[in-house]
Amino acid sequence: MSSNREWDYGGVFKKYDMSGEIKIGTGIVKVHDIYDPLPAFMKTADLIFCDPPCNSGNLSSFYTKAEIGEESRPFTKYDQFTARLFECVDEIDPHMLIMELFKSNVDVYLFNIRKRYRFVKIYESMYYHNPKNRCKIVIGSNVKFDGFDAVDGIDEEDAIHFVCKNAEYDVIGDPCMGKGLVGYYSNLYGRKFVGTELNAKRLAVLLERITTNSRGKIN
Ligand SMILES: C[S@@+](CC[C@H](N)C(=O)[O-])C[C@H]1O[C@@H](n2cnc3c(N)ncnc32)[C@H](O)[C@@H]1O
Repeated sequence: MSSNREWDYGGVFKKYDMSGEIKIGTGIVKVHDIYDPLPAFMKTADLIFCDPPCNSGNLSSFYTKAEIGEESRPFTKYDQFTARLFECVDEIDPHMLIMELFKSNVDVYLFNIRKRYRFVKIYESMYYHNPKNRCKIVIGSNVKFDGFDAVDGIDEEDAIHFVCKNAEYDVIGDPCMGKGLVGYYSNLYGRKFVGTELNAKRLAVLLERITTNSRGKIN
């Protein structure tokens, strides 16, 4: 299998028109680089959940998978990406910001979250349901909050499920949607979501999951 086929995510993007603002289920999404001006619909989010690329190599691999060559990439350094992501957060100004973070980015992101929010909690998590894959779910809010302790120690997908089902929000936003777990689970509970994602092929997985009502993973 060629590497391009591996990055096709099941090839479901061929079934959908991935241009412009896409309405899907209870949400609105767009193929978009966060470096471009934030789409107005993103500003309707009052809670953000984001699992951003965790370091410069990871960021670069996402551009490669999106078939964006090095000469066309707006970010050369991870700290530029981080700064731009927090500019978007500031424009959206959500009452709560939840981020999935890793050893490589937790310190700088925590610094940025603490600068913006009075109350910050950090939960242990994992990805791909493997306890060896450690990550953290960090929650910032300006209002004292509880009710999230259930996410401590559980897999990130289950944590996203919990947040989409239980958190207080009108619209949940994710600027780096990937294959769209935030969209999938908020749609499952009839709750509104908005999101942007660099890679049309990855975002199409969310469209496919909602359209076909499938819970299965497409890798
Ligand atoms: C760790 S993944 C998020 C996974 C996601 N939680 C999911 O449900 O699939 C990070 C995502 O950020 C996207 N991304 C990277 N750089 C971006 C950029 N400049 N603008 C928007 N999205 C970007 C990547 O393509 C990737 O899908």
